Amino acid sequence: MSNILVTGGAGFIGSNFLNYMVKKYPENNFYNLDKLTYAGNLENLSLIENETNYTFIKGDIQDNKLVKSIFDKYDITTVINFAAESHVDRSIENPDIFLKTNILGTQVLLEAAKNKWELNSSDKYDTAYKNNVKFIQVSTDEVYGTLGSDGMFTEATPLNPNSPYSVSKASADLLVRAYNETYKLPINITRCSNNYGPHQFPEKLIPLMINNALEGKKLPVYGDGQQIRDWLHVKDHCTAIDKVYNEGISGEVYNIGGNNEKANIDIVKLILKKLGKSSDQIEFVTDRLGHDRRYAIDNSKITSDLKWEPSYVFETGLEETIQWYLNNQNWTKHIVTGDYMNYYKAMYNNR
Ligand code: NAD
Ligand code: DAU
Repeated sequence: MSNILVTGGAGFIGSNFLNYMVKKYPENNFYNLDKLTYAGNLENLSLIENETNYTFIKGDIQDNKLVKSIFDKYDITTVINFAAESHVDRSIENPDIFLKTNILGTQVLLEAAKNKWELNSSDKYDTAYKNNVKFIQVSTDEVYGTLGSDGMFTEATPLNPNSPYSVSKASADLLVRAYNETYKLPINITRCSNNYGPHQFPEKLIPLMINNALEGKKLPVYGDGQQIRDWLHVKDHCTAIDKVYNEGISGEVYNIGGNNEKANIDIVKLILKKLGKSSDQIEFVTDRLGHDRRYAIDNSKITSDLKWEPSYVFETGLEETIQWYLNNQNWTKHIVTGDYMNYYKAMYNNR
């Protein structure tokens, strides 16, 4: 039996992960520590909120005392750290909170795990690792920076982050690595490409475009719209983390991608087509500062070592996602709070 601390489990990927894992592993206990920032939404967890192996704790990963008390009270054996400020545009406006949550918060979790697990001998390390005692850091392909028209990110690609967000994630990755090297903390780092699917906050490209199309608003495409991202369905990301949790070799980094490169403008056009809307709704707007041109993940390590591969076909996954947003317009209404709208105005008015 494992006692798994999932941080940021009320957000997009964390909630999809918990909805999948809590039912799949009834013998394990899952503790969801989430601060419920603008991006955290407990409605995402309604399917599991009454399960006996699931507990929600509202709090900040930077809160040393709280984190230590959770480790002690629940005898935490595993950490899967999703908690983060995750939106690049927000990091360009206000880097401060990104450095605090994404770097200092990760350090608080690492320190609590190190103290609880006391693993500084190789015997203890091996035993711990066999028993799934480990710290999984959910990171991003953005730590590698940007690609030209050729090549892909492998786990050996040097870190070269360009935005305050990606710098904060790269810094956290280095801290996680240091706790493995220095204190023998069993760790894995996963670096994933762009996720899409249900429950994604409508500040990110796909849900923002779906909602704007439905509301008859303009669809704001940054720059020339030719930037490329490698899209992965969130449920494929969840199965990949499950694989890493069960079979990942301690100390290893695993890239996770969808083998699915698309230019932003093509995604926006596809969404409009699927909704039967006119491409007149597209509006090219000022580019994002320091906008990374292309991301592409080389999946070969996780595919060959852990026998994971993505299962979704993008067009089907996108259709299902559009349908989910059509069926769950109340979900969107509930999260589109005054704060979000103020942010939205600051980001897009006069752009
Ligand atoms: P999200 O913004 O939807 O959710 C983040 C969650 O973390 C929210 O529930 C929020 O309340 C919580 N949180 C934020 N600060 C916190 C704090 N200080 N203490 C506790 N909880 C806090 O993010 P997401 O898209 O679900 O991303 C999850 C993780 O995956 C992040 O670490 C992100 O960097 C990484 N990632 C995301 C993508 C993507 O495409 N969305 C791709 C690769 C990696
Ligand atoms: O690559 C993984 C990363 O993917 C994650 O680490 C981040 O947490 C996640 O937010 C995402 O970052 P991106 O910046 O790639 O995602 P976003 O949805 O913000 O933008 C995707 C692309 O679409 C990007 O090139 C910018 C562009 N874009 C975005 C928005 C919100 C637009 O053209 N218009 C928009 O309004």
